[in-house]
Amino acid sequence: MRKKVTKAIFPVAGLGTRFLPATKSVPKEIMTLVDRPLVQYAIDEARAAGIKEFIFVTSRGKSALEDYFDHSPVLEQELRRKGKKDLMKVLKSTNMDSGAIAYIRQHKALGLGHAVWCARRLIGNEPFAVILPDDVIAAETPCLQQMVEAYAETGGNMVAAMEVAPEKASAYGVLDVKEDMGSIVEVNGMVEKPAQGEAPSNLAVIGRYVLGPSVLQNLNKLKTGAGGEIQLTDAIAADIGTENGVYGYRFRGQRFDCGSKSGFLQATVAFALARDDLRDDLSRYLRDVVQLENAAE
Ligand code: G1P
Repeated sequence: MRKKVTKAIFPVAGLGTRFLPATKSVPKEIMTLVDRPLVQYAIDEARAAGIKEFIFVTSRGKSALEDYFDHSPVLEQELRRKGKKDLMKVLKSTNMDSGAIAYIRQHKALGLGHAVWCARRLIGNEPFAVILPDDVIAAETPCLQQMVEAYAETGGNMVAAMEVAPEKASAYGVLDVKEDMGSIVEVNGMVEKPAQGEAPSNLAVIGRYVLGPSVLQNLNKLKTGAGGEIQLTDAIAADIGTENGVYGYRFRGQRFDCGSKSGFLQATVAFALARDDLRDDLSRYLRDVVQLENAAE
């Protein structure tokens, strides 16, 4: 029997400079899509996939993130007193069990691979998931759950994959496909941020991974790669051709790049339109805006 995936790493040490000045005092992962912080979407997705231990790799200035997962007795008491049951429920859904969450500091910004490596002692000799909260995925079956189910069949290492426009490939890790089996592809190469025109395909890695402990051992030996950083992509690629192997998983769902302002805005609109309490007002407003735009042309 394959070991169950019960641990997930959330690399959240980045400075979020693309969202300055907001990120001067607010960690990027606390920024909200409608009324829920980015990190809450990541946690909910992990929970749905059966994750029980949540490991955050943080850095200086991220204390708001740690506070977010604390219980808030004063707030809870006040809501109870006022009989606000719905809000109590919302608040409770953000609580984490004692001991379920761990924070590890990444002392130097040496790259995503290094961030994951910082959590190695908490992972030990088990498979684990990695979720990049910047990549928000709206899906009927949450993306990581789809992957954990597929991983139960394939084993090895699995990365979420999505076709991107060829001119965008240089912003991603890109897969060299050995065999395309539809939703699962077997990989025989991975390139982090390939130069324009040199990507082996337009199948890009998206921020969800199910990895074996061998990747942590690969990280032990790794030197810097693209952009002068220690790359997770390179550590995974080092398992290609071993008994572990690497697979890409074409997930069902819509991915938003919430590391960019435009992606963040699109996600905000999409998640608001999915809400019964906001849909009518917002779609009316959007229709008016589009009409005005068209009239001005
Ligand atoms: C990271 C990974 C890259 C992946 C991307 C997905 O890059 O290194 O392989 O394609 O996430 O969002 P970053 O966006 O942090 O530069």
